Amino acid sequence: MAKQQDTSENSLFAKVISHAKEYGFVYQSSEIYDGLQAVYDYGPWGSELKKNLKDIWWTAMTRLNHNVVGIDASIFMHPTTWKASGHVDSFNDPMIDNKDSKKRYRADVLLEDKAAALEKEGKADEGKALVEKMAALLDADDLEGVRNLIIEQGIVCPESGTDNWTEVRQFNLMFSTQIGSVADDSSTVYLRPETAQGIFVNFLNVQKTSRQKVPFGIAQIGKAFRNEIVARQFIFRMREFEQMEMQYFVRPNTEMESYERWRDARMKWHQAVGIPAEKLRFHKHEKLAHYANAAEDIEFEFPFGWKEVEGIHSRTDFDLKAHQEFSKKKMQYFDPEVNQNYIPYVVETSVGADRLFLMHLCEAYTELTVTDGEKSKTRVFLKLHPAIAPVKAAILPLTKKDGLPDKGMEIFRKLRAKFNVIYEEQQSIGKRYTRQDLIGTPFCIAVDHDTLEDNTVTIRHRDTTEQERVHIDELEARLAEACSPERIYEQLL
Ligand code: GAP
Repeated sequence: MAKQQDTSENSLFAKVISHAKEYGFVYQSSEIYDGLQAVYDYGPWGSELKKNLKDIWWTAMTRLNHNVVGIDASIFMHPTTWKASGHVDSFNDPMIDNKDSKKRYRADVLLEDKAAALEKEGKADEGKALVEKMAALLDADDLEGVRNLIIEQGIVCPESGTDNWTEVRQFNLMFSTQIGSVADDSSTVYLRPETAQGIFVNFLNVQKTSRQKVPFGIAQIGKAFRNEIVARQFIFRMREFEQMEMQYFVRPNTEMESYERWRDARMKWHQAVGIPAEKLRFHKHEKLAHYANAAEDIEFEFPFGWKEVEGIHSRTDFDLKAHQEFSKKKMQYFDPEVNQNYIPYVVETSVGADRLFLMHLCEAYTELTVTDGEKSKTRVFLKLHPAIAPVKAAILPLTKKDGLPDKGMEIFRKLRAKFNVIYEEQQSIGKRYTRQDLIGTPFCIAVDHDTLEDNTVTIRHRDTTEQERVHIDELEARLAEACSPERIYEQLL
């Protein structure tokens, strides 16, 4: 008999974080030097899981859409790129410090958290009004008004418990460094804070060389960097992270149709990769970024609340127009169908690979209390979709003798080119099953004495622990059926 264990939200998240470290998913960067805040490294299973997510995204965006092609642009770009994009002037977060605790907070997050608390108390209208008021103040650059609103709302520092706040100040989030050997202003370059600009500046190169016609899209996966002042919640907000972005170039005034289509397609993708519909929702932006005329987030219910995983933005012609102005190079497209030159409008889908990873880890982490007669114990496993699980199957000989390891290795060699499988013979079979549960391996293949007689093995299923006997010749087809991302792609077509 098994039942879901009651876990409070915070302790659940603490368990996910320690599980990630303990079982080789995510480590703190340079941990031997006490780490670097908001920078993380992926371990053996974490890097496999992240790669699987990225591969499925890449295929879904490019191969399943005949008019979306991929690129891989550099992290460094000409510094004028960031002047044109508006990041030098307006890629800021409004920050406020508590004078007693000396802790720094994002002023907008303090107010959003307050609005969420009001919503939880059943005062949704009050919460909504608060967010709208904040958005209006930020739009008007009224930072004093934002500070007053924080005080009016009775928001105190969680550390000191006081409302002894400094004024609100804007902090630019871009990291800069010097290129070449001479350090002066002209050699300052930025680490890109979004991958999108590498796509915008290459828009005509890609259009011409891939012979695409508007509407078409360009997809990219790559690192982005932000000097997040308040780094919180593990890999949710990092200073170095990875984005998976797609810019879709459309004829002006047709952008809303594409925006809605991509918004729905992206929600469908998250569900196809295994996130239940009730754990996802859309959240419309009240305060639009400087480049957008419509924006929505796809949010997931993390153990610490509903938070953004992906942004869908209608970016108008803001970026291409700005690059045309700053570079003095034409960013126009000649549309033969309407016999016109124009700067295309852009719909963007932008998901963080690390945040996606965290969402799947939180969703997959499962604790079951298993009772057997008088005894009860907790079984922990990661219920990952088999297509994204780091290891698809573990081949486990029952003992280290009687030729079972040789038979196990034979099966391992047969499967390893097609699937990420591992072979393990140390410790009891029960302990080995547990180890695979902890990293989310959907199948364990046990090799026993009968295998030597009739070439059958026992497959043990991770989620149910049920076992079944199958012939070795069936293994490849069984793994392909369960683990192939094709099942995901079929749901998207
Ligand atoms: N090009 C648009 C853009 O960058 P964004 O909403 O700032 O939009 C898109 O970022 C996505 O990138 C977010 O939904 C999130 O998944 C991810 N992301 C942003 N900042 C991040 C950070 N500091 N750490 C981890 N992921 C981040």
